[in-house]
Amino acid sequence: MQAGLFPPELATEVLAPGACVLRGFALDAAPGLLAAIAEIARAAPFRHMTTPGGFRMSVAMTSCGALGWVTDATGYRYAAHDPESGGPWPAMPEALLAFARRAAAAAGHADCRPDACLVNRYAPGTKLSLHQDRDERDHGAPIVSVSLGLPAVFLFGGARRKDPQVRVPLAHGDVVVWGGASRLFHHGVLPIAQGHHPATGAYRYNLTFRKAG
Ligand code: SIN
Ligand code: FE2
Repeated sequence: MQAGLFPPELATEVLAPGACVLRGFALDAAPGLLAAIAEIARAAPFRHMTTPGGFRMSVAMTSCGALGWVTDATGYRYAAHDPESGGPWPAMPEALLAFARRAAAAAGHADCRPDACLVNRYAPGTKLSLHQDRDERDHGAPIVSVSLGLPAVFLFGGARRKDPQVRVPLAHGDVVVWGGASRLFHHGVLPIAQGHHPATGAYRYNLTFRKAG
């Protein structure tokens, strides 16, 4: 087969009903997405939040959009203000919103209107334990998750915590979308391996777009 006949943008893998991986969908947008992350982090620096159980999260996080996801001793929730600054989160850049809408549409979720974008930063060794994204008010809208930089192994399970999980290798530019029947499926990220990525150095970044309010 001729190389390049099927551009990576068209390589879609179904994980579950309503869930798929769009391989390489963010490759062209990646430089702009990374520039937007740097801008967001200037206004709302990455921080390690504390879980309600008192554990410091190894993933560093920030947010943009009308709402940002936060965790502290009182619980997990979305907040209109950054608890570090007391001010609103940085606005969601138009290019990020447009990208998220394109990705959702490519995955079969038309007219998605996210109002929150959580930005995760993973250093080697960092992981994200199995969880559900269920703090959003609107579970009718999908989650759009963009991987940038160092590769990761994404775990995608089912509705119950004990359901079997598939291990999905995610590379720079891959996008995972889950909504509909799999919107509340459990997922997580295995510890990131040591490495260097030309676009992000020693980090993996992940953007998750959500309709939270
Ligand atoms: C998340 O579940 O919020 C992030 C997933 C990822 O980093 O791939
Ligand atoms: Fe999540």
